[in-house]
Amino acid sequence: MELSSNEIHLYFSHPEQITDPELLRRYKSLLTEDELTQMSRYYFAGHRHQYLITRALIRTSLSAYYPVDPAEWRFGKNDYGKPQISYPEDVFPARFNLSHTDGLIMCGFARDYDIGVDVEDGKRTTRAALEGLSSYFSAQEIEDLGKLPPEQQKQRFFDYWTLKESYIKARGMGLAIPLGKFSFKFNENNLSDFSTHPDLNDDAKNWQFWRLPMADRYQVAVAVNSANSNLTINAYNSVPLLRNDSIPLTFL
Ligand SMILES: CC(C)(COP(=O)(O)OP(=O)(O)OC[C@H]1O[C@@H](n2cnc3c(N)ncnc32)[C@H](O)[C@@H]1OP(=O)(O)O)[C@@H](O)C(=O)NCCC(=O)NCCS
Repeated sequence: MELSSNEIHLYFSHPEQITDPELLRRYKSLLTEDELTQMSRYYFAGHRHQYLITRALIRTSLSAYYPVDPAEWRFGKNDYGKPQISYPEDVFPARFNLSHTDGLIMCGFARDYDIGVDVEDGKRTTRAALEGLSSYFSAQEIEDLGKLPPEQQKQRFFDYWTLKESYIKARGMGLAIPLGKFSFKFNENNLSDFSTHPDLNDDAKNWQFWRLPMADRYQVAVAVNSANSNLTINAYNSVPLLRNDSIPLTFL
């Protein structure tokens, strides 16, 4: 695989569809002792399975770009918990970010600039939960939400939520960035503006965002810290070690 500086690559795995015991055994053989210990700490088998597929996905995806065995990669974290490659050092300019929810794991790659991805499960998220989250939105976002007809509000909550997550994940600082200090604006259903408070010391013009629905159930947001207007997104359904099938994308 090639990852040019004009491309973003997204990989999606559906853990419930990956059940072959031999394949799962091969995935386990890719993990470090620390990762196996971490996996064993999950109480529910479904969470252990998701952890295993996530680790296999990131390792095999990285190895598709660079001649490093999937088992050889080592990962550390920044001060806010964002995973980064710690070995091999300085081999390439690719950045990645992960997100997972029940039934879907995703991993995004970009070259030379930061990327953040978020996937949320529309089925699992109640309106009450979304309304609770909205108290963290910016004053402008809360005002704009209130003006929408009720039937459009759930979708817009999801838009704000996933976009905000993708931004704080691309910055690598998680909730250390106050969610009300940056703001998304919509014109009808189109994202028309992104602004940041001066406290964040960040130029909003250097950001691009995408929203896409997946499998009638999930919503995905992607943030990249790049003003390159020629960026394209390629997406793949991945069964690690077996195949990456290209999937067509429809953006919101
Ligand atoms: C840490 C955080 C990134 C977790 O996000 P999340 O939506 O709960 O979970 P996701 O599945 O999308 O992301 C988890 C992955 O993000 C990555 N991650 C962890 N910390 C990160 C950070 N500081 N920056 C970027 N990525 C990070 C990890 O790869 C992690 O997966 P892993 O532990 O299997 O490696 C952070 O954004 C958070 O705590 N959010 C809380 C959710 C919330 O209240 N959102 C309100 C938005 S309106």
